Amino acid sequence: MAESRTIGVFGAGWVGLVTGGCFAELGHEVIVRDVMQDRIEALHAGQLPFHEANLPEVLERNRDRIRYTLDPHDLADTDALFICVQTPPTYSGDADLSFVWSALDDLPRAERRQVLVMKSTVPVGTGEKVRAALEGRGLTNLGYVSNPEFLAEGSAVRDFLNPDRIVIGAFADEDGAAVEALYGGLEAPVVRTDVASAEMIKLAANAFLMTRISFINEIANVCEAVGADVVEVARGVGLDHRLGPHFLRAGIGYGGSCFPKDSLALKQLASNSGYHFQLLAAVIEVNELQKRRVVQKLQKHLGKLRGKKIALLGLAFKAGTDDMREAPSLVLASRLLAEGAEVRAWDPVARPGELMKGAVLSDSVADAVRDADAAVIVTEWDELRGLATQEVRDSMARPLIIDGRNLLDPAETRAAGFAYEGIGRPSSPFESLPETAEPETKVSG
Ligand code: UGA
Repeated sequence: MAESRTIGVFGAGWVGLVTGGCFAELGHEVIVRDVMQDRIEALHAGQLPFHEANLPEVLERNRDRIRYTLDPHDLADTDALFICVQTPPTYSGDADLSFVWSALDDLPRAERRQVLVMKSTVPVGTGEKVRAALEGRGLTNLGYVSNPEFLAEGSAVRDFLNPDRIVIGAFADEDGAAVEALYGGLEAPVVRTDVASAEMIKLAANAFLMTRISFINEIANVCEAVGADVVEVARGVGLDHRLGPHFLRAGIGYGGSCFPKDSLALKQLASNSGYHFQLLAAVIEVNELQKRRVVQKLQKHLGKLRGKKIALLGLAFKAGTDDMREAPSLVLASRLLAEGAEVRAWDPVARPGELMKGAVLSDSVADAVRDADAAVIVTEWDELRGLATQEVRDSMARPLIIDGRNLLDPAETRAAGFAYEGIGRPSSPFESLPETAEPETKVSG
């Protein structure tokens, strides 16, 4: 267990509440500050502004150690101040740091040395700029540490409490040590480094994960052309210990609040410094194209999509969350509507509202697929694993399933009477390309 300290958290969003809750779980006193009055009031009433597994329990269990406030002065007497505010992309693709700067404007003046800890994902060089700004304001008793978060939605509490590593980049050793001590009790390698490298570790890790996804998606596209099955290929490739099995699930492209924004920010950061990050540019482009490939698959089976009824099953950017930010479902729905198709959409938790104007929301899978010309699996919800039933087949106008997540077993789905297409899997056992003819050998003499 770590020695108990007092921690201030700027931002009662997803990162701030997970960070605050988990530090309280480690035995610290936590004060979370946000500028939104209704959010603070809701938190006082025990209501969370989003869904995240295990977080309500963590916050409830540590209720006595967590306070919520609108007043930044309540954070004056803390040992560490964590910045956990959003850094959305601007029109240029750079990260918008205005929330970070306004949190810094609100920093309380403390009597003793504090450490300011950046959890938000920021461009490399931000720490240096913040340090200069703090010095300019005479806040010389405030250390600066970059301590990026590696939390995935749906498993954030587990990721915080069982991290693969803890990255701590500091200008002064004592500040790095103070932040490391806050994590006492967790078993994980600690990477103590400089601030710029810590900032880059976060961006590089996300970029590498996206590279793996776009890579396997391109392998999937080639698999389709040559009659191989990408699920088998990923299994065989992932067993190489140098490569590993993670993030090799081919599908409909990555989305979410982090990957698309962070890839743009890193690409932009590189080009602002005069470097064209070609590989990352390709990763992003492959992802954009991947989201649209389902449309071609539908056209292959249905011809023109005008007037066709398409059921989109799953709207969240991945299973286990109601988050639709940068979700492939949004691109797909708008492409299908532009082709003149009728779009029915279903998700167990995500509610698109204005985001999916023109699509009809269905309350159940059965409702969405009734009379449909095709059902498209967009999010890998467990509820969809049993989609290929006789009931569904009978209720559809055409029993066609496009499986954007390779969730179903192709053979079983076909045996149940459906036409089935996954991503990177032979569309039917007989549809691989004909073999290239051997060149005729000339008989000499
Ligand atoms: C991601 C990272 O996994 C976290 O480590 C990181 O801290 C976080 O971004 C962040 O920067 O804050 P998250 O966006 O919640 O977390 O979701 P992931 O589980 O990583 O999935 C991202 C996207 O990739 C999803 O659309 C998912 O469907 C897709 N994906 C993932 C694939 O298409 N194939 C895979 O094999 C894995």
